[in-house]
Amino acid sequence: MDKATRLQYLEAMGIDVWATRHRLSAVQPEDPLENLGRAEQDEVHRDQPSNRRPSNLAETVDAEFQPHSPSHASHANEQTWKELQHEVALCRACSLCETRTQTVFGVGNKQASWMLIGEAPGQNEDLQGEPFVGKAGQLLTEMLRAIGLQREEVYIANMLKCRPPNNRDPQAEEVAACNSFLQQQIELIQPKIILAVGRIAAQNLLATQQPLAKLRGVRHQLHNIPLIVIHHPAYLLRSLLEKAKAWSDLQFALSVYQKLEK
Ligand code: URA
Repeated sequence: MDKATRLQYLEAMGIDVWATRHRLSAVQPEDPLENLGRAEQDEVHRDQPSNRRPSNLAETVDAEFQPHSPSHASHANEQTWKELQHEVALCRACSLCETRTQTVFGVGNKQASWMLIGEAPGQNEDLQGEPFVGKAGQLLTEMLRAIGLQREEVYIANMLKCRPPNNRDPQAEEVAACNSFLQQQIELIQPKIILAVGRIAAQNLLATQQPLAKLRGVRHQLHNIPLIVIHHPAYLLRSLLEKAKAWSDLQFALSVYQKLEK
C-alpha cells in the first residue's frame, strides 16, 4: 500500500500519525524589502550608496542572536520576568484597568540589543495581548526588516500596558503609574539602543515637550543608553510622504548602533 493511501486509512480510523519535524534550513532567507511599498523601496535604493541593500546589520544581529545556555542566573532572570509580567497583569494602579481587555506586557528577545518603546496598546493589541500587531505594527515589522532586523530579535514594549479608551493620548498620571514596569523591562534587557516610536513615547521618555521634528535625528540618552526617536508607523500609514523621513530615522539609528559596535 502506498504511503498516501496508508495515511488516508489511518486518518479515517482516527489514528494520529506522528511525523518527525524537519529543520527549516531549505527555506530561503526572505528579501527584507519585498513587503515594502514600491515608493518605500525606491526610497531605500535612493538612500543607499550604489543601491546597496542594507545587509550589514543582519549579520551583526544574527551573530548576537544566540539562545543563552541555561544557568542559575538565567533561571533567576526568567523568574523575575514572570513575576513582573504577573504584576502587570494584576495592576489596578490607574483607571485603564477598568476598560482593558487584557494588559499588553511586551514581546521579543529578552537579550535584545534593540528595544522599541511605543505609546500604548490600540484596539488590536488590547485584543491580542501583544504590542504593535495591527496595521501599524505590521508596518513597524517591515521597517525593522528593512534595516535587517527580525521582529523576534528585538524587544517591543509600550509605555502604557493598558489601552486608553478610543486610543486617546495617555494621561500624565497613567504614564507615571506604568513607568516602573517599563523601567524594570529596560533594566532587565539592558539594550544597547532604544528606539522611541512616535512623538508621545519620545516626549514622555525624554521628559520634554519638544516637537518630533526637533527630537528626530539626534542621539539622546536614557539611563546611559542611546535613544533614537523614530516616526510612529500609524502616522506613516496616513502620510506616505513621511515614509522617506522614517527611512532616514532608521538609517540614523543604524549608524548610531554600528558606531557602538566599533
Ligand atoms: N501604537 C503604539 O504605540 N503601540 C502599540 O502597541 C500599537 C500602536
